[in-house]
Amino acid sequence: MRDVTNRVPQHIAMIMDGNGRWARQQGKPRLAGHEAGSETVRQVMGYCRKAGVRYLTLYAFSTENWSRPPEEVAGLMQLLTVFISKYEAELIEKQVRLRVIGNRADLSLSLQKELARVEQSTQHFEQQVIIALSYSGRNELVRAVRKIASAVRSGSCEPEAIDEALIATSLDAPDVPDPDLIIRTSGEFRLSNFLLWQCAYSEFYFTPVLWPDFGEADFKTALEAYAARERRYGGVKKEDFV
Ligand code: IPE
Ligand code: IPE
Ligand code: MG
Repeated sequence: MRDVTNRVPQHIAMIMDGNGRWARQQGKPRLAGHEAGSETVRQVMGYCRKAGVRYLTLYAFSTENWSRPPEEVAGLMQLLTVFISKYEAELIEKQVRLRVIGNRADLSLSLQKELARVEQSTQHFEQQVIIALSYSGRNELVRAVRKIASAVRSGSCEPEAIDEALIATSLDAPDVPDPDLIIRTSGEFRLSNFLLWQCAYSEFYFTPVLWPDFGEADFKTALEAYAARERRYGGVKKEDFV
């Protein structure tokens, strides 16, 4: 028998991929794909609320995405700035806390300020949307290692005290549980440097649907697939215990 209490993931992380291909299919510029993708973000937040998913992490811009043409990078940053200020009221109305993970020092000062402001105005809400911006799993780990190394150097941490819990609490959102389910759209089967530490026991779901086309039926199918999985964490089922 499946464990019914485990059926709705507490934390879903999404690799929102395929905006560029969607735009090409429509004969539009890539930025039109990103714009359509930002509407999907809004919709997906609603599906999570309805389903009772407490944490939603969205991979919006990777450290590697800075290598894209400057016009696309500028367009994406602009879109983000508009998205944040446009939806602040909606986040407050729906009681959603916005958080950012990633190397925010890479972002423009005005975007950093805007993000900090909305993070603050929504900080008391329980349901959370975590946006990964200028994020990569390796970069997050490098920054965590630096924090720990400086604590060791200052004498406030013994090397022997470094354990998995200390590493986990040195990451960008230390209180957020590991993702139960990671969804990637657009038919690519890779992590692209997302949540490398946190994904140790995540379940993965890949769909060929391009991000701007990802709708409620696709979301439900992903949740059903998750509910049918058996998570063993390296152990064995009770009935197989000898
Ligand atoms: C995902 O869509 C959004 C970002 C990475 C910012 P892409 O822009 O990667 O779309 P494809 O993969 O080129 O179709
Ligand atoms: C991953 O998508 C990053 C985001 C969704 C923000 P990419 O399109 O950048 O990944 P690759 O290059 O296909 O691995
Ligand atoms: Mg892509």
